[in-house]
Amino acid sequence: MKSKLVDMIKKQKDNFPLDQSFYIDKEIYDIDLKNIFFNQWIFVGHESRIPKKGDYFLFNVGDESIIVIRGNNQKVNCFYNVCRHRGSHICLEKEGKKNKLICPYHSWVYDLEGNLVKARMMPENFNKDEWGLHKCNSKNFEGLIFINLSDKPDSFDDFISPTKDFIKLHGLKDAKIAYRKTYPTNGNWKLTLDNFHECYHCQTAHPEYCQIHTNDYIQAYGAGNNTGPESKEFSEKLRVWNKKTKEMGYLVGEYSEKKFTNFYRSAERTPFSDDRLSETKNGKPASKLMGKFNNYDGGYTTIGTSPFNSLLMSNDFATTFTFIPRGPMKTDVEIMWLVDKNATEGVDYNLDNLIWMWDRTTIADKKIIEDNQKGVLSKKYIPGPLSDMEIGLEKFKKWYLQSLMRSLI
Ligand code: FES
Ligand SMILES: [Fe+2]
Repeated sequence: MKSKLVDMIKKQKDNFPLDQSFYIDKEIYDIDLKNIFFNQWIFVGHESRIPKKGDYFLFNVGDESIIVIRGNNQKVNCFYNVCRHRGSHICLEKEGKKNKLICPYHSWVYDLEGNLVKARMMPENFNKDEWGLHKCNSKNFEGLIFINLSDKPDSFDDFISPTKDFIKLHGLKDAKIAYRKTYPTNGNWKLTLDNFHECYHCQTAHPEYCQIHTNDYIQAYGAGNNTGPESKEFSEKLRVWNKKTKEMGYLVGEYSEKKFTNFYRSAERTPFSDDRLSETKNGKPASKLMGKFNNYDGGYTTIGTSPFNSLLMSNDFATTFTFIPRGPMKTDVEIMWLVDKNATEGVDYNLDNLIWMWDRTTIADKKIIEDNQKGVLSKKYIPGPLSDMEIGLEKFKKWYLQSLMRSLI
């Protein structure tokens, strides 16, 4: 398979999407999961999901299950959900609260720090200290819980450094989850992400998105900076807004990767059109101001920490995305809407107003991705030429192919 795959990678054409096998093949999917997803820092939740000691949720992907649990001293601990006795899963429900982690098989008991504290009828020379739960690499950054399933993870500091100030601006450490929803999508993870890396489809598929964002923005920045043809009109708006926003004391600017590494990150701050203040239907604020903002700056922050996570943030709420591969033709898109922790539903924010745009847009994306996957399965699918508005997709594809190649040789 390895040498066949190397040949296939070499055959992929510039400015065309991938060949069929990359979107349907089980063996490629397994390699992707192991070599790419498991080597990335992924944010899997916000700490407000587990506010009290013992609160936990599971993050399951492929054959792995990770217990994300609030331990002592407010710390978030992440463990492989694998009993050190004979390997049973320990936590079986997706979320809940535990004072101790008790394996359902033979009742070995672990504390919230992962130490084995009780194991019945073991030989005298058995040392409990040697049989604590396996820790999963994790970091809590600004309330976002990141995990990395690699045994040799990249430095978290290196990983977060270019996007860190963009994230910090929004005060996510003082946020709470207003709403969380998963959109199970019958599409390969790369087909799903292809769709999120271009806004060529936005005019046809996303009336709500196009109501909020203008054509000049969509053309130049709809899929992130440097992903579409420049719009002179938008560049001028950006120049004026950057100047004004800097004077207000808020961060402006953008980041994109200049050379190939294991990281694939981007970030930018851009203005909404006219007097719009937030990513809502009528442009009016959705909730309380967050983070460093004392006033609305009319801006929007979009960040990709990796291909598997995006953060799209107004001054008063954040929408976060986690893309979780579930099978060769299945991907979960999990969205969280974050607001200030002191905001009250019905008083400071209205849920329908908050989720209106990205809920509808993601439902529409699910449909077009699934229809795309059906067509890609046909014997008549061959990759077609990409447009000038699919530069983001092409960049993502190149990163993927290079990452895959590097993992094979
Ligand atoms: S497998 Fe967990 S106690 Fe035996
Ligand atoms: Fe879309």
